[in-house]
Amino acid sequence: MPSESEIHAALATVRYPGFSRDIVSFGLVKGVSVEGGKVTIEISLATRDPNIPRLIHEQVEAALKQVPGVTEPKLNFDIKEPPNTAQGNAASLPKSSIPGVKRIIAVASGKGGVGKSTVASNLAVALSKSGARVGLCDCDLYGPSIAHMFGSNERPYQNEEQQIVPIERYGLQLVSMGFLLDDDSPVIVRGPVATRYTQQFLRQVAWNDLDYLILDLPPGTGDIQLTIVQTVALDGTVIVTTPQEVALIDARKAVTMFQKVNVPILGIIENMSYFLCPSDGQIYHIFGKGGGDHEAKRLGVPLLGQIPIEMTVREAGDEGHPIALEDTAKSASSKVFHEIAAKLRATVAA
Ligand SMILES: Nc1ncnc2c1ncn2[C@@H]1O[C@H](COP(=O)(O)OP(=O)(O)OP(=O)(O)O)[C@@H](O)[C@H]1O
Ligand SMILES: [Mg+2]
Repeated sequence: MPSESEIHAALATVRYPGFSRDIVSFGLVKGVSVEGGKVTIEISLATRDPNIPRLIHEQVEAALKQVPGVTEPKLNFDIKEPPNTAQGNAASLPKSSIPGVKRIIAVASGKGGVGKSTVASNLAVALSKSGARVGLCDCDLYGPSIAHMFGSNERPYQNEEQQIVPIERYGLQLVSMGFLLDDDSPVIVRGPVATRYTQQFLRQVAWNDLDYLILDLPPGTGDIQLTIVQTVALDGTVIVTTPQEVALIDARKAVTMFQKVNVPILGIIENMSYFLCPSDGQIYHIFGKGGGDHEAKRLGVPLLGQIPIEMTVREAGDEGHPIALEDTAKSASSKVFHEIAAKLRATVAA
């Protein structure tokens, strides 16, 4: 007769479709019972995609077949609605599940270093300058950068209710998930611990009456991203890419991930689109031309804007004074950030 631990070990080889994490560490296996060769598994899922239970079913059966003594594997699925309940029109989505927040927009990318944090910071600033109340959460546990971009090493404090109170900069409320972790120690929270930490963190911040919460996601399409989309009801996501093919390939993967979990794609933002050379007035397409536009058309989502490569964007980020604080008449990139913010406000009204 197979043992329960053998069954658990077999289940731990089954990955959630499309992700590297297995179904046991995701907490989806709710029960295992073994009576002789008859093994019954209870699995709880939050998905609207019928392929997910089907794929998990096939994989679990195959894994159990490898365990000696299992003659009759049986799977019971408990399938719930995911937290993001509406599809398509972002404006019709229910309000977020985070207290004190009306709308949540994630800034994501497939590839790292394409300017996600720069875009998240500047969109937050532009939304705020347009009159909205805005918060920004740096969800990158392993490489937080928002504090740097806002020139702050102030740490948020915890209030009596053990909530994290955001710091304030330029009228924005800011927190970083890295805030609670030790400054110098390399981040050791990985896997299930990181998942739990992320879930708790998102519910633990004392946001003060926000119209928009912008989430700066870590790059890629891994566990943290999946945890976030399953923990909070996102009103939508914007995908940042450069025009380069390697970035576009990864952007596609990110789009697919968000579509799988029914998060509306509000659009693509092409960053580092071109360089306007101050000495000869020529435009140079350093990372290629038209990639973002082409990809947006292919995916049927809007291209929200094209941000030039500008020294001032990088400098402003390094100086803790995001470029979107600049007069739009004086900075081409500030102008684009404000245009994108206006489009987002029109699509996702708070
Ligand atoms: N349009 C731009 N013009 C000039 N520099 C830029 C531009 N966009 C981003 N940068 C610079 O490129 C670097 C990477 O940007 P950023 O940190 O925003 O990327 P990221 O996608 O958040 O990276 P990671 O994947 O590591 O989180 C930063 O130094 C930033 O100042
Ligand atoms: Mg970043």
